Amino acid sequence: MKVTVIGGGNVGATCAFILSDKNICREIVLLDIVEGIPQGKALDMREATPVGGSSSSVIGANDYADTANSDIIVMTAGKPRTPGMSRDDLLATNVEIMRSAIGEAAKASPNAIIIVVSNPLDAMCYAAMKISGFPSHRVFGMAGILDTARYRTFISMELGVSVKDIAAVVLGGHGDTMVPIPRLTTVGGVPLTSLISKDRLDAIVQRTANGGAEIVKYLKTGSAYYAPAYAAVEMVESIILDQKRVLPCAVWLKGEFGEKDIYMGVPTVIGRKGVEKVLEIPLTDDERKLFDNSAEAVRGIIQATKL
Ligand code: NAI
Ligand code: 2OP
Repeated sequence: MKVTVIGGGNVGATCAFILSDKNICREIVLLDIVEGIPQGKALDMREATPVGGSSSSVIGANDYADTANSDIIVMTAGKPRTPGMSRDDLLATNVEIMRSAIGEAAKASPNAIIIVVSNPLDAMCYAAMKISGFPSHRVFGMAGILDTARYRTFISMELGVSVKDIAAVVLGGHGDTMVPIPRLTTVGGVPLTSLISKDRLDAIVQRTANGGAEIVKYLKTGSAYYAPAYAAVEMVESIILDQKRVLPCAVWLKGEFGEKDIYMGVPTVIGRKGVEKVLEIPLTDDERKLFDNSAEAVRGIIQATKL
């Protein structure tokens, strides 16, 4: 399997490194528009393999010819936000980056699966699908794994238990309107709602929705990348190993969850073919309201791409 990571910045480079370290694919191409950066980072990663023990080869590139016939493209190119910006403020710049990068990458690898990371995530998934012309099961986005990981982290911090035993799902768009579902969150099989007060749970839900901004506030010059990169690699791994993991991903809905013609985060079976199935959850009236509200916000930003 050959994986191309477009964007050799914080998320892209971290993603390429984690992927290389996992030793699950032979060839990884790290591509950036800036000359020297992907080559230098890739060589550094390659020089880590004799010590780390991986047999993967990471190469740095500026030319899409080097990405030809990739099986998976992870799209991380694009501006990150800085304090005071919302993800939606990135739209105009990142649509243009998407147009050139995905246009070229799709031509070089017509059978690839595209995993979108660039923000605003749900709109960028739509842009990638339109620009590539690929079927929707081969174009989907990473956000829900990250949002769910943050939610699990905050629960683990609150309860003093391992994150490993916290099973949860966050639905909806990747923005302030995301929808954690406490009703379905369990801690080693015990319902979370029986372990925590409503006030503390509300605070955790709120912190999860603001999880991206919390990191931006600390970093000041950019946004989170360790957790996002791991989340993207989890999707790549499920494709490469055909694991059929059930992961919350931003996928093009065709009637599932009562929505169509929209990218939204929902539980999805990810395997060798890309999106293999969407698992529907019957929502309560309150959850439905939150999901609809999130869909409305996503629809607005998708329309603003003018694609
Ligand atoms: P970064 O600024 O560190 O890296 C972006 C890279 O893209 C830079 O190296 C830049 O040179 C490159 N780039 C720009 N235009 C390009 C083009 N036309 N072709 C190829 N490369 C190009 O930013 P970072 O932190 O890596 O974030 C990247 C994107 O991912 C941002 O839009 C950010 O908002 C988004 N993001 C999304 C997350 C999610 O949950 N979906 C989580 C974290 C970040
Ligand atoms: C995050 O949630 C920036 O969307 C990115 O950290």
